[in-house]
Amino acid sequence: MEIIVNGGNRLEGVVEVNSSKNAILPILAATLLSNGHIEINKVPKIRDVKIISDLINDLGVEVKHEQNKLVYNVSDIKNYPSYELVRQMRASFLVMGPILAKKGKVKISLPGGCAIGTRPIDLHLKGFHALGAKIDLSHGDVTAEASNLIGSHIYLDFPSVGATENIMMAAALAKGSTYIENAALEPEVVDLANFINAMGGKISGAGTNVVKIDGVNELKPVNYTPIPDRIEAGTYMIAAAATGGNVLINNVIPEHMKAITAKLVESGAIVEEESNAIRVARTESIKPIYIKTLPYPGFPTDMQAQFMAYLSCALGSSVITESVFENRFMHLQELLRMGAEIKAEGRTAIIKGVKKLTGANVKATDLRAGAALVVAGLTAEGETIVGNSIHVDRGYENFVEKLNKLGADIIKK
Ligand code: UD1
Repeated sequence: MEIIVNGGNRLEGVVEVNSSKNAILPILAATLLSNGHIEINKVPKIRDVKIISDLINDLGVEVKHEQNKLVYNVSDIKNYPSYELVRQMRASFLVMGPILAKKGKVKISLPGGCAIGTRPIDLHLKGFHALGAKIDLSHGDVTAEASNLIGSHIYLDFPSVGATENIMMAAALAKGSTYIENAALEPEVVDLANFINAMGGKISGAGTNVVKIDGVNELKPVNYTPIPDRIEAGTYMIAAAATGGNVLINNVIPEHMKAITAKLVESGAIVEEESNAIRVARTESIKPIYIKTLPYPGFPTDMQAQFMAYLSCALGSSVITESVFENRFMHLQELLRMGAEIKAEGRTAIIKGVKKLTGANVKATDLRAGAALVVAGLTAEGETIVGNSIHVDRGYENFVEKLNKLGADIIKK
């Protein structure tokens, strides 16, 4: 599949953001902690949601996608996750904590490496071990077993989003209190805690670096609406700024966008915050800026590629340092094909702004790299063909349609 963009159109109008992919994935995993009828509202039809839904269905849970609502009927977990489904998405690993807590045993394939680095799971396993689980790694599978999980103190060497979430879910049904120190502060972690609390869980401190989880005996089914997707919103903010457009982005929590907003303003864009929307416009040239990706509230690694595309046409040299993942510059080679002037050494890239990018045949290597190449294509002269665009479908619902509505000349084939 490919996305074909004819660059040069300014984006103008209004675009609606969906619920956050990265909030929904752990929330869907956490439904396994309860029993009964759970409804999750405003769920986008994106590939990653389909993969985790299929995986949960494969465990023996009834799953229905009704319009934009996901309905789960959770009873017994009959099976372990299949390798076929786990290997398609690293976040599948998020079901490990809930299955361990509910069944007392879980066996799952190791997620393996991916295009943006090795991405180990040692911190997840360290957490389960601290809660009293026996961990066994063999033949590419990991097994965790504990007749009872017992609350504990866990210090994370790095504030990993996935590890904080997985441990939080396992500890929600453990005996006693668990403290996760140096926990991730991401809004998606807070949303997961809110969801578990809505089910009757007792989690406090989410959004700070110490999360306390008081284990409860059972969690009850609920109806829940996850937070808006700050990365989808950020991508439209960048697309508006990159094309010198003027776009109102609806269903946004401006507080979650601070790092992105600050960098856009520094680069000369106009950003106006409303209570649940953000308007982005740009009339001046793009000023070069310095960006370093960091855990929240720092600049999100998931916006690094889109900013690199944007800064490719700045008036001067920008610097981007990727400090969260060790190999997340795959989009760089593709931007070079479009006439960008970028040099990377280790985790730092220097982007010397050019006057214009030119359309080319490029390939999406991962989800955000794909989005970045579409942004580059929107500003480029002529036609850009983004191959492997299936990556983009992992995280953006109706991406092409939404951009089209904003005035882009873009189709999907
Ligand atoms: C989540 C997001 C992803 C985002 C990332 C960082 C989801 C579904 N995905 O991924 O979009 O890019 O946060 O904001 O929410 N690490 C370890 N050991 C571990 C776990 C992680 O060393 O056990 C390292 C990773 O290799 C990486 C860093 O920690 O270098 C950050 O990873 P982490 O925060 O865990 O990201 P994910 O939860 O995988």
